[in-house]
Amino acid sequence: MTMMKNLYRGEVLYLIASPLDHVEAYRYFEDGGLAVVDGKIVEAGPFEAMRSRYPDFPVTDYSGKLITPGFIDSHIHFSQSEIQGMYGKQLLDWLDEYTFPAEEAFSSMEYAQDIARFFVKELVKNGTTTCAAYATVHPASVTALFSVATEYNMCILAGKVMMNRNAPDYLMDTTHQGELDCRSLIEDWDGKGRNHYVITPRFAITSTPDQLKSAGRLHAEYPSTYIQTHLSENLGEIESVLSLCPGHADYLEVYERAGLLTDRSIFGHCVHLTDREYKRLGETGGIIAHCPTSNLFLGSGLFDMREANRYGVRTTLATDVGAGTSFSMWRTMGEAYKVQQLNGYPMTALEAIYKCTLGSARALSLDDRIGSFLPGREADFIVVDYAATSVQKLRMEYLRSRDKWTIENKLFGLQTLGDDRNTVCTYIMGKQVYGSDSCDHQEAS
Ligand code: GUN
Ligand code: ZN
Repeated sequence: MTMMKNLYRGEVLYLIASPLDHVEAYRYFEDGGLAVVDGKIVEAGPFEAMRSRYPDFPVTDYSGKLITPGFIDSHIHFSQSEIQGMYGKQLLDWLDEYTFPAEEAFSSMEYAQDIARFFVKELVKNGTTTCAAYATVHPASVTALFSVATEYNMCILAGKVMMNRNAPDYLMDTTHQGELDCRSLIEDWDGKGRNHYVITPRFAITSTPDQLKSAGRLHAEYPSTYIQTHLSENLGEIESVLSLCPGHADYLEVYERAGLLTDRSIFGHCVHLTDREYKRLGETGGIIAHCPTSNLFLGSGLFDMREANRYGVRTTLATDVGAGTSFSMWRTMGEAYKVQQLNGYPMTALEAIYKCTLGSARALSLDDRIGSFLPGREADFIVVDYAATSVQKLRMEYLRSRDKWTIENKLFGLQTLGDDRNTVCTYIMGKQVYGSDSCDHQEAS
């Protein structure tokens, strides 16, 4: 069989460690090359050296553009793609008024597939190549999403929402039916291709302790699965959880007693954690998905990244579409920066990017496959234009004229001003899935 070989030329950047632990946390080759064979990374390095090492590789020239690993969005609702930007409510009212009615339609496989198609296209347009997604309570919605992701060969984590109380009748399962549905979806999809199943009790308000325990048992039975849920997003939510579940020290303990606090558990939001909760997350390897555009939009509060870092909690960034107001991880990083500014912690662009790439991949135990350009990794990467808008161009000229067009300023510009317009191309397993083919392809010399 002939091998698919390519050498991509551009500004190659990827993280190799957490910028919180290491000064030299990244590799950056200003005139770099990324060698890819059959969808896997072979090597990244300076372009001229790479060209002589791989003389028979055709070159695709993205000079002046950033080539970096695709983003990982650790918390997103594919079934809420239609309801971004709905006016004026906090979490619990927003769920009742906008979210639950929108999720009803996903009992139809055809409907779910149409939205799944929109969703995956939107992800790749924004440079996101992996996400952890909530479907709806309907098994068909999960099948629809995994099927579309499989067409793209995308590494995706997804699961059926489990909900057996405090929700409209049309969106509820039962402990028994929820477990049966999850079991069958796990058998069908977990570990098939690049699909990973996530056990998804929505949150403690909509699952009885009995259903939470059933979710915990399922994970124990299928340890390759992940768990995702919401934790301490909104003060009204926390009050409600503690009155529904008396006798618990805090919100996290409700999940912990059900066997849902593991190093494969992703907790969305975590805006109002107690010291004990941070500590337990740090000790157990529980993962936080920080969703700044959502927290600002729903007025939920300001997540404390410095505190999470202090307790050694593995923290990732996420959009939380549809309460999140953008599919773009650049926008998400930009809003995360602003939230942390209000906390007196001006997070660097490198920390933000780490939490959307290698940091997320590590938290999800997927760093042997994605999140960096180390040899053997799957070639999910994006090509990014630093100056896709007139304002970005003006900023670039300004910095260039003052000799300050440094990698730090380039990345911070993307973080604060970037969005889907900056994505030139997106590649999944070495195959271009988004972007025009207008780059300069050269035959091997
Ligand atoms: N908590 C429980 N369900 C949801 C949801 O769909 N979105 C958000 N932002 N929070 C939740
Ligand atoms: Zn959410």
